[in-house]
Amino acid sequence: MKVITSISQMQQEVQALKNDKLSIGYIPTMGYLHEGHVRLVNKAREENDIVIMSIFVNPLQFGPNEDLDAYPRDFERDREIAKNEKVDYIFYPSVEEMYPSKPSVTLVVQKRVDVLCGSTRPGHFDGVATVLAKLFHIIQPTRAYFGMKDAQQVAVVDGLITDLHFPIELIPVETVREEDGLAKSSRNVRLTSKEREEASVLYKSLKEAEKQIFAGERDIEVIISNMKNTISKNSSGAVDYIEIYSYPELENLEILEGKFIIALAVKFSNARLIDNLVITL
Ligand code: PAJ
Repeated sequence: MKVITSISQMQQEVQALKNDKLSIGYIPTMGYLHEGHVRLVNKAREENDIVIMSIFVNPLQFGPNEDLDAYPRDFERDREIAKNEKVDYIFYPSVEEMYPSKPSVTLVVQKRVDVLCGSTRPGHFDGVATVLAKLFHIIQPTRAYFGMKDAQQVAVVDGLITDLHFPIELIPVETVREEDGLAKSSRNVRLTSKEREEASVLYKSLKEAEKQIFAGERDIEVIISNMKNTISKNSSGAVDYIEIYSYPELENLEILEGKFIIALAVKFSNARLIDNLVITL
């Protein structure tokens, strides 16, 4: 496994792989790897000749009051995990390498961002789209792997790939969970032990909602209010949002039908957690 920190060196390697007509599976990450990331790597490993993972905590996607400095980092541990999972290249650029000066061009995402995390984190998806456009140009993957834990990110990347004509196949991968249902996240380490226990209620509330829907409940407000009750009764977390939209368009639903997402964000003392379920009726 090669670790590459320079953009020009990464471009040279990619050119050589392209000359050899090898397919490239790409997993963009911000590091502090867990089983969620590993699942993406495993899928990429099965479907491609070469697997490239990037590790870059992208300052552009963090708001002024967000956790850029506190975001967990441990490159040596990440390197071991990636090596064990048979990653071929880690692209690990510094902030100076990716943004040597204030960017002269950034992207603004026009659709699918006025709801969910897009509305509570203004500019976040612009930062995600900008860094991914840069990374896609550098890595030129055949397929790019994204987790459904960040379902809105998948929806935004879908728009990015279509609108900017990246010849990349987007592969969404199901959310990997702890035994009690909590979605694996690099931010889970910042929960207190009491909060960690309580946090399983997020997934529980989603599964309860699914059950109610399959039993015939169609009133969106009732479903959301039941979820809020379940979460507030069973945890100290503050609900940031619980919303239901069509997926992947993320538009308001008149009637609960077709493919839609139930998504939530809950703030604990030191970590804001998100989770979702996509349901097809
Ligand atoms: P990061 O949070 O490190 O996540 C990297 C990828 O792992 C994302 O596609 C995310 O959805 C996926 N992932 C995280 N937890 C998961 C889980 N429990 N199950 C399945 N997949 C999971 O998302 C980012 O980084 C950044 O926004 C990035 C795309 C790298 C752009 O900077």
